[in-house]
Amino acid sequence: MRYIGGKTLLLDYIIDTIEAETENIKTVIDIFSGSGTVGNALKAKQYSVWSNDFLYFSYVIARGTIGICAEPLFKNFDFDVIEYLNHITLEDTAYSLQQCFIYNNYSPNENCDRMYFQNENAIKIDLIRMQIEEWKQTGLLSEDEYFYLLAALINAVPYVANITGVFGAYLKYWDKRTYNALRLEKPAIIATNAKMVCTNADYTQILSEQYDLLYADPPYNAREYLPNYHVLETIARYDYPKLQGVTGMRSYDNQKSVFCKKSKVHSAFETLIRDCQSRYLLISYNNEGIISTDELSKLCKEYAVGNSFQLIEIDYRRYKNKIPNNKAGLKEQLYFLRRN
Ligand SMILES: C[S@@+](CC[C@H](N)C(=O)[O-])C[C@H]1O[C@@H](n2cnc3c(N)ncnc32)[C@H](O)[C@@H]1O
Repeated sequence: MRYIGGKTLLLDYIIDTIEAETENIKTVIDIFSGSGTVGNALKAKQYSVWSNDFLYFSYVIARGTIGICAEPLFKNFDFDVIEYLNHITLEDTAYSLQQCFIYNNYSPNENCDRMYFQNENAIKIDLIRMQIEEWKQTGLLSEDEYFYLLAALINAVPYVANITGVFGAYLKYWDKRTYNALRLEKPAIIATNAKMVCTNADYTQILSEQYDLLYADPPYNAREYLPNYHVLETIARYDYPKLQGVTGMRSYDNQKSVFCKKSKVHSAFETLIRDCQSRYLLISYNNEGIISTDELSKLCKEYAVGNSFQLIEIDYRRYKNKIPNNKAGLKEQLYFLRRN
């Protein structure tokens, strides 16, 4: 998934730094997992990964991919579950249009002007989501199978959404991708014997875990994540929330990040660095974030064992060279230190 601050293009730098700077590490926490791209790359390297994010849809993606160590077998079904869901229609089910939250709130009909999805896709999202829940409630799906299917749904939705990348607003005309029928793909599962853990918690609750390395990729600026992904959060939770405003936003009082507030970001980083019980700490940030390079370096030095602190800077143009309008001067950063 295209994710704000996603690290797909920086994976090599992150993995190379971990391999070059650490000794004998087997367990890694990805404490702000987002799209799960770093956690999956670490899993592929046979590390035991703990993936965490305070957004539920992010947890769903992690739990349904990183959290599964072998392809689910769907033993209670004698048909291909993904294909069944791809062809589901209202007539196949006992659900009514009134139950279809996405259709009623995010696609145009007599009660709604919003244009996030074409009606057919909105109804399909609802039917798939309700069917997965019903199979889980009736004991047909294991925990792994349930999250695998939910992850497939969350990953598929952006491909038919009428947006320019995030769900903060919808387009006023139909983008051509919205005419494609929603289609679930099987999530790629990396087989491993290493232990995987996925949690949906505030970062402060994970810091006491004694893993070998903690990787932290917090937000860099004032842009909160929930408003930009609110529709995915609602599909993942399917909790019929009260919506507000033109874009139909759910409330997110408990999902505002201290890393997005100038007045709180220093103490947020101090908590992260001071309370981290892992042997090594690796932080992703950039030189235009709301805490300055000097301030963050100072904090790292204060808590680093000996002279272990290093700041590695990667020129934005070096890893985004395919993108026009490169921002001169912007540097991605890796702050590395030994904590104990
Ligand atoms: C820069 S993104 C991470 C991107 C991720 N590394 C990737 O490659 O997709 C930051 C993430 O931090 C999460 N986040 C922000 N504040 C948090 C907090 N207090 N506790 C847990 N997660 C938080 C956001 O939900 C968001 O997914």
